[in-house]
Amino acid sequence: MFDKISQQANKLVSITKKHNRNSKTKVVVITSGKGGVGKSTLTSNIAYLLSRQGKNVAVLDADIGLANQQVLFDIKPQKTFFDYLEGICELEEIFLETGYNGVTLIAGKSGYQYGKINNSMIFSRVVDDILDLNRYDILLIDTGAGINEHVQEFLNLTDDILAITTTDPSALTDVYALLKMISLKKEKLMLCFNYTSKYEIGETITKSITNLALKNKLNRKFMVQYMGNVSEMKSIAITGRLRKLFTKELKQEIASQELRMVVDNLIKQIG
Ligand SMILES: Nc1ncnc2c1ncn2[C@@H]1O[C@H](COP(=O)(O)OP(=O)(O)OP(=O)(O)O)[C@@H](O)[C@H]1O
Ligand SMILES: [Mg+2]
Repeated sequence: MFDKISQQANKLVSITKKHNRNSKTKVVVITSGKGGVGKSTLTSNIAYLLSRQGKNVAVLDADIGLANQQVLFDIKPQKTFFDYLEGICELEEIFLETGYNGVTLIAGKSGYQYGKINNSMIFSRVVDDILDLNRYDILLIDTGAGINEHVQEFLNLTDDILAITTTDPSALTDVYALLKMISLKKEKLMLCFNYTSKYEIGETITKSITNLALKNKLNRKFMVQYMGNVSEMKSIAITGRLRKLFTKELKQEIASQELRMVVDNLIKQIG
């Protein structure tokens, strides 16, 4: 009974609370449509590269039920943001130090049954509270695959959405479906091509996608911003398995250089 009342109270709080636009913290949601294209790997490495540029960064693992940022950062979280939302711990307890200066992890929970919170609005409440702290320069949110209601809830938080895709036709189909949905409410989508060996390949496909959107008369103001490519490299999967970040361990590799360029573009976009 109490649980139900408290859930309803939480829902009311989330509905009435406006996302804090005065905060210095910029929110960037990283998403994809198709699964397994490298969102989580790129998110943790983007966080590291942003911290190298002097930014104070937090990563929120918003892959509901399949959290794996803690694996990439090699952390066993004592607390996750679910504990905070359930009232089990204080907000400060969910900020986990990573082994990287200037990068904080806010972990999710693997195997989480979301029936327990049975309320999709509630997840973004944690973001409001993080923004209220005014502590981080950038909050990167790693979403799960697909465009389900949980992913959409996080997409609604910001105008800065970075979609990761590969050149695989099914990934492109999914990213176009994502773009169509986003164009209903927003005016831009940033696009990064993973597993893509040449900058120009991503650039050409971005132009084709933009032309298709024009042809299909999506939002006229809508723009797709090409952020760059990251090549396929076996060592990325290997460093991931070793729970290390490829952009730190393999600085000189082409993929690290490429991702640094994506991060430079991202900083330009979000200011
Ligand atoms: N450019 C790359 N070259 C080689 N391997 C890569 C590359 N990018 C990612 N990988 C590997 O691909 C696998 C999937 O990556 P990752 O888990 O980051 O994808 P994801 O999009 O987050 O997946 P999910 O949709 O399940 O959340 C991992 O083993 C990762 O190491
Ligand atoms: Mg992932």
